[in-house]
Amino acid sequence: MLENMSGISRTHYCGEITDAKQGEEVVVCGWCQRQRDLGNLIFIDLRDRTGICQLSFDDKTPKPVFDKAFSVRGEFVIAARGILRERESKNPQLKTGAVEVYVSELRILSASKTTPFDIKDDIKTNEELRLKYRYLDLRRKPLQDAIMLRHRVSKIARDYFDENRFVEIETPMLIKSTPEGARDYLVPSRVHKGKFYALPQSPQLYKQLLMLSGFDRYMQIAKCFRDEDLRADRQPEFTQIDIEMSFVNEKDVQDMNEGFMKKLLKEVWNEDLELPLPRITYNEAMERFGSDKPDTRFGLELVNCSDIFADTEFAVFKNALERGSVRAINVKGAAKELSRKEIDRLTEVVKQYKAKGLAFSRWADGAKSSSFEKFLTEAEINAFHERMGYEEGDVLLVVADKNSVVYAALGALRLNLSKKLKLVPKGKYSLLWVTDFPLFEYDEDDGRYYAKHHPFTCPNLDDVELMETDRDKARARAYDLVFNGYEVGGGSIRISDPDLQSRMFAALGMSEETAHERFGFLLDAFSYGVPPHGGMAYGLDRLMMILLDDDNIKDVIAFPKVQNASELMTQCPSFVDDKSLEELSIAIREN
Ligand code: AMO
Ligand code: AMP
Repeated sequence: MLENMSGISRTHYCGEITDAKQGEEVVVCGWCQRQRDLGNLIFIDLRDRTGICQLSFDDKTPKPVFDKAFSVRGEFVIAARGILRERESKNPQLKTGAVEVYVSELRILSASKTTPFDIKDDIKTNEELRLKYRYLDLRRKPLQDAIMLRHRVSKIARDYFDENRFVEIETPMLIKSTPEGARDYLVPSRVHKGKFYALPQSPQLYKQLLMLSGFDRYMQIAKCFRDEDLRADRQPEFTQIDIEMSFVNEKDVQDMNEGFMKKLLKEVWNEDLELPLPRITYNEAMERFGSDKPDTRFGLELVNCSDIFADTEFAVFKNALERGSVRAINVKGAAKELSRKEIDRLTEVVKQYKAKGLAFSRWADGAKSSSFEKFLTEAEINAFHERMGYEEGDVLLVVADKNSVVYAALGALRLNLSKKLKLVPKGKYSLLWVTDFPLFEYDEDDGRYYAKHHPFTCPNLDDVELMETDRDKARARAYDLVFNGYEVGGGSIRISDPDLQSRMFAALGMSEETAHERFGFLLDAFSYGVPPHGGMAYGLDRLMMILLDDDNIKDVIAFPKVQNASELMTQCPSFVDDKSLEELSIAIREN
């Protein structure tokens, strides 16, 4: 028979046992990390979320207690009462390593089978097995620390925004489907046959309506759902720290959020963040880093060489320049590390981004070798080398294509090289705003324009006409917060004029009818007095990854989903019975 907690109460957490005085009676509870039987001595390392303490038993321990201790195995759950005393052989590695609990009463509260993997910090077990037994994986210290830090970060956010008079307001989880951006998760209605709710991709429209209602400053730690392809920094359900403010411009929103980041980094990293944060425009970010979420912790900036090759006879560059550019990176002093073979590997990297090749010039051991300079004139070669600041030991890497491909390929190459060459010193971080995003984004597959941020983002007031005349050039009043090369947050000043909002829907190719059917409530609302407003949302999961210097988003979520959007522990999604489907008037098609 297993025992219970009647007549015994925990006095201390294991890791805080040193709060008690030596000679004092304490009660600790937790899981057996390890039991060591030395014949007439038994030691149990007892673990809870605060740490580990040692329980000890010897030949003076009452026999029934000693026998019970003998039977304890790994992951058994126990409670122990005893006297705190100094330990004979101290363990300086352990916070509680100078003391132990000399046990007089032991209760076995639960037994455990042998676990499928060890509950310890470093394990090599594959992730799939760990996710199947997520509740066991969550017993491990790295995961416990991550989840507890996540709690602290949420609390810091709530406290900071509360101090600044933000009100936390919950918004609905069952909402109207207005697909724009990612695919919606749909929920069938039983009552309204054939109709569906959507799970929110974000609380965007509700928070805007709350501004209209006069709440002035809103925040919410909000669950969001997007049915999109997963990546290392993306989950189908994720959490935002979502905020919205009335009577503001970009700077007001950014200042408020810089204050939050300063407080956060101070409390979590004890780091003094220098404000204001640097700002660079979207165009500059693309030009210099090939990315709208630039990692500025290292150089390897892109250099535009298009003008040098304006009249070139080299077909690859000539063709590219008809509709794009020729850009290059100088990997300074890396000729030794970047062998021909390594350059071949990098060529495969850029090909994933649709580049047709990676031209190179490499200067090692007094000799230059190049894949393409034989096709150039002397003058072109000289101008190119000068522009790139080419010196012995350097490798120049070139991509020629349309701009979107050049940026994507060289942007990815930069990141790849920074990892390979270990260019980011430990502890270095970069946090900046990227501003002046384009208002629209053209989707070649669909042959139409989408809102780059979302359709409620205000155009730059100088670019309003461009919404009708030149959509590629129109800029948005949108900004992203970029942390170590991750987009950790983004937002904008919103449209608060119903006419401008209608023009936006029209520019997105929405008929007046469709706009009214989808967003009539919003256009209607905008006719009853709207404060100018704006806001942003942080991806809490991404923020946690960076704070923990982790590159796997699953490590910061208690119960994450895997690549194919399933959860391995409960095995969802799952089939439902016919009766449930019938009630929803849903039939499953075989193909
Ligand atoms: P956005 O779509 O940029 O903006 O989302 C805000 C932030 O949420 C994070 N994020 C994700 N994190 C994990 N998994 C995902 N699938 C995922 N998608 C986004 C990113 C991103 O910066 N309503 C607007 C905000 C606003 O305008 O106020 C919005 O949702 O870190
Ligand atoms: P080729 O004349 O096709 O042998 O190309 C000469 C060099 O240019 C090779 O190193 C190719 O990898 C490289 N190359 C081909 N296409 C491109 C491109 N679009 N951008 C950059 N380099 C390229």
